[in-house]
Amino acid sequence: MDKMKRIIIFDTTLRDGEQSPGASLDIKAKIEIAKQLARLGVDVIEAGFPIASKGDFMAVKEVSSAVKGPCVCGLARAKKEDIERARDALKSAQNARIHVFLATSKIHMKYKLKKAEEEILKQASEFVKYARKFCDDVEFSPEDASRSDVDFLCRVVESVITSGAKTVNIPDTVGYAIPDEFGALIKTIKTKVPNSNKAIISVHCHNDLGLGVSNSLAAIENGAEQVECTINGLGERAGNASLEEIVMALNTRKDIFACATSIKTKELCRTSRLVSKLTGIVVQPNKAIVGRNAFSHEAGIHQDGILKKRSTYEIMKPEDVGFGGTRLVLGKHSGKHAFSDRLKKLGVELKEDDLVKAFERFKDLADKKKEVFDEDLLAIVEEELVSVPETYTLDYFNIKRGKNVPPQATIRALKHKKAEEETSSGDGPVDACYKAVDKITGLKFELLDYSLKSTTGGKDALGEVAIRIKPDSGNEVSGRGASTDIIEASIRAYLNAVNKFLFARQKRLHETM
Ligand code: KIV
Ligand code: ZN
Repeated sequence: MDKMKRIIIFDTTLRDGEQSPGASLDIKAKIEIAKQLARLGVDVIEAGFPIASKGDFMAVKEVSSAVKGPCVCGLARAKKEDIERARDALKSAQNARIHVFLATSKIHMKYKLKKAEEEILKQASEFVKYARKFCDDVEFSPEDASRSDVDFLCRVVESVITSGAKTVNIPDTVGYAIPDEFGALIKTIKTKVPNSNKAIISVHCHNDLGLGVSNSLAAIENGAEQVECTINGLGERAGNASLEEIVMALNTRKDIFACATSIKTKELCRTSRLVSKLTGIVVQPNKAIVGRNAFSHEAGIHQDGILKKRSTYEIMKPEDVGFGGTRLVLGKHSGKHAFSDRLKKLGVELKEDDLVKAFERFKDLADKKKEVFDEDLLAIVEEELVSVPETYTLDYFNIKRGKNVPPQATIRALKHKKAEEETSSGDGPVDACYKAVDKITGLKFELLDYSLKSTTGGKDALGEVAIRIKPDSGNEVSGRGASTDIIEASIRAYLNAVNKFLFARQKRLHETM
């Protein structure tokens, strides 16, 4: 055991992960995720890119005050104003890190930055030094490292370490590398850069060729000591290397890697679920470790083997990653105290008024559903976790349909307690409902994505709907809704997204005033 090398887990779900199309998170949701990441045991939380927007700045600031334990990191370009903004956002962090980046590949230097190698070398070390004036813990990333000239890359790495970078992160920014090649690059840096042992060598792999995790593991085998990754593999384009897959590969194949992490693996599924809920990005059922089917055995021969000895077809125990564990928790006679107690055990703390609202929904659910499970509780409190003000709430709905008759939906929503009702027909009941809501709000959206899944098993299971919609102008938004009635869940999801859109629009108006 003492031969185990410790791998630092740097989570960038709140920064690179949030760059996933449609995954924008508000501050309350970011804090919720950051607290769960701390419970999960990550070493570093990259909470945002403070210069990018007011929202990012506030997120890094709030996460810095709310989360104790992991180091909190803010991203900055190699520029004075970026570094100062990161410094300000990180002021109250117990352990802060400024992450400075500058591209080093020929293509980025020539077309994006329009700078020569020597200028890049100078800028990188100058701004690492500048960041060190405010923060002991400075990380540097040569962006697009995997497509950079290796000799030049080694010169940059040497120079930023001399200037005070404690971690040098080697990104495969566009997910272009192949495992053997990327592993060899890390080995070259470790052996050719004379002061490489004075800094932690980290990697940050994107998943464009589906190789993010493989490249990260190849890098670890060749001496990388930190991996940057995201929950559910969220991130730009095809995403980043998935935290849960890297951690479980290291855990399951200790014989190969001889590495340990500080991750409490039993928290992996809960973290995945929370991130999926709050970003609105559904996890594919066959996703390794956290997907719904990750531990399901369908083939008869497999089921037979599993019954005889689990290890015939299972290389990990589902309980080790917190999978399943569906537990009957509460019933209709449970009180508010038991309800809030159970939520705390699930890692959710709500403000009193949110708790009251969530409890009402729980009572409602317990009337319809005999058994209420942890998953059901999380599904009903998620609307309280996403802190947008509810401009519209659902008051009533009615669907009329029959054979060869287009479905017709009547929806009544409350706007600041005033009832507004509209009727519309549509291609299907959900379409009719969404058109009726559009009539009420006077807004129009394109439905980009709609998914429905059941929270637990059984005929009375809660249905959870996740959608993404796009307004005529502005960014797409996600919404979620849960109910034992799937039409109601669909309407709730739509109203949730509409409320988010209205809140963001109002915020933008304030910012420009
Ligand atoms: O992919 C990338 O290169 C990045 C850097 C900012 C580390 O996200
Ligand atoms: Zn990235």
